[in-house]
Amino acid sequence: MKGIDEERYNFIKGDISDYELMQDAIKDANVIVNFAAESHVDRSISNPYSFIQSNIIGVFTILEVLRKCNPSAKLVHISTDEVYGDIIHGSFKEWDRLKPSSPYSASKASADMLVLAYVRTYGLNAVITRCTNNYGPYQFPEKLIPKTIIRASMNLKIPIYGTGKNVRDWIHVLDHCEAIDLVMQEGEKGEIYNISSGEEKNELRSCYRDFTCVGKR
Ligand SMILES: NC(=O)c1ccc[n+]([C@@H]2O[C@H](COP(=O)([O-])OP(=O)(O)OC[C@H]3O[C@@H](n4cnc5c(N)ncnc54)[C@H](O)[C@@H]3O)[C@@H](O)[C@H]2O)c1
Repeated sequence: MKGIDEERYNFIKGDISDYELMQDAIKDANVIVNFAAESHVDRSISNPYSFIQSNIIGVFTILEVLRKCNPSAKLVHISTDEVYGDIIHGSFKEWDRLKPSSPYSASKASADMLVLAYVRTYGLNAVITRCTNNYGPYQFPEKLIPKTIIRASMNLKIPIYGTGKNVRDWIHVLDHCEAIDLVMQEGEKGEIYNISSGEEKNELRSCYRDFTCVGKR
């Protein structure tokens, strides 16, 4: 894999809700960073089942393995700012109430609650990060920016949500990774860390600012 030191890297293909597999994978780890999730909001609306399975049962499985086999390990659980729902003005704080608006964000919020409960009940050393929208190389083409670029380059219609004026913060994936690295090293047990770039854009600006060709509309 490009940019990966093969000597220090071990790829195991499997489902995070498979207890035995996860036991083998993480029982001796010092730090576990859980990125695995069903992540596409639209798909969560048309078919939520896999979101509940991966995003809730999967995280529950990781927590159970840690509780029983590796209680001193540190878990960095990657959540999302979508657990907060919408805001009219300003930005969310870590202690704001959760108001998820899709099965995706509800499943992520549920997992966050489980993580916090395992910190409180069993003393697990876990932290949660909640990041805004990511962009960057190799992003799955169902996500807004790659989808928009691909469709625009094919001269196809580009889907816009609502009026396209909803404001979102966009962060480059490497900046997100840098923040996760910091949380991995210095994040305190039971804490939640919001991550953003401060680069808020509405959907129309995110999609069209740098385009001369915007496809058929
Ligand atoms: N992309 C964003 O804008 C964004 C923003 C904030 C938080 N996040 C979070 O970051 C994480 C990664 O998001 P992404 O955008 O890279 O998503 P992605 O869908 O591109 O990647 C998620 C990966 O998890 C894997 N996966 C799903 N269910 C699994 C399971 N049961 N067992 C093992 N693997 C499983 C998928 O196969 C996929 O490779 C997710 O937890 C997501 O909620 C993403």
